[in-house]
Amino acid sequence: MTTTLTWYGHATLGLETAGYHILVDPFFNGNPAASTTASRVSADYILVTHGHRDHIGDSVDIARRTGATVISNFEICNWLGAKDVKTHGQHLGGGHQHPFGYLKLTLALHGSALPDGTYGGNPIGFLLTTLDGHKIYLAGDTGLFGDMRLIGEEGLDLAVIPIGDNYTMGPGDALRAVKMLQPRHVVPIHFNTFDLIKQDAADWKAKVEAETTSRVQLLKPGGTFTLD
Ligand code: NI
Ligand code: MN
Repeated sequence: MTTTLTWYGHATLGLETAGYHILVDPFFNGNPAASTTASRVSADYILVTHGHRDHIGDSVDIARRTGATVISNFEICNWLGAKDVKTHGQHLGGGHQHPFGYLKLTLALHGSALPDGTYGGNPIGFLLTTLDGHKIYLAGDTGLFGDMRLIGEEGLDLAVIPIGDNYTMGPGDALRAVKMLQPRHVVPIHFNTFDLIKQDAADWKAKVEAETTSRVQLLKPGGTFTLD
């Protein structure tokens, strides 16, 4: 069994695992880096890390069109539920066995106001254990925090982390994050979408691979990485 990750640009991801299509933070409309459009993607589940516009994105439209269930924190699920979207609310530290794998919500240091100003609860990351036992950590928007060590203790096959700086960890702290997470593979995201978060990903890859045993998979928007 394989699990394939697609980076659609910015923080928008696709995961295909056990025949399920999972979208993460589906921001297509207004995303200058997007490799496709909200009307073209398929989804059985949509994972939302926090309420900011560049993450909740097109969740409502895609969920209504596809019938996908949105998984997020309780507050964001309440907001989406009032818009006729199917949801499954969880909260920090809580895991649940979904048909596609066991999904746990993790801490993230960030904000989470929804586009209309509604309180969006605490921002989150996701730790997914696929049906064939692969562990994938999706950090969401976050600054560096020491409890990444605890997440690393789970034994990560893949970590997807922001490196853009200004709104999230920059390259220096993201390198420190990799040292705590110790994933087999790492995919950097949330950079180069706008000038404010421009980074040299090739330089970051060289540093990470010189100082850790993790392999950096640099994707272009629309690019994929398969875990086997
Ligand atoms: Ni954000
Ligand atoms: Mn963001």
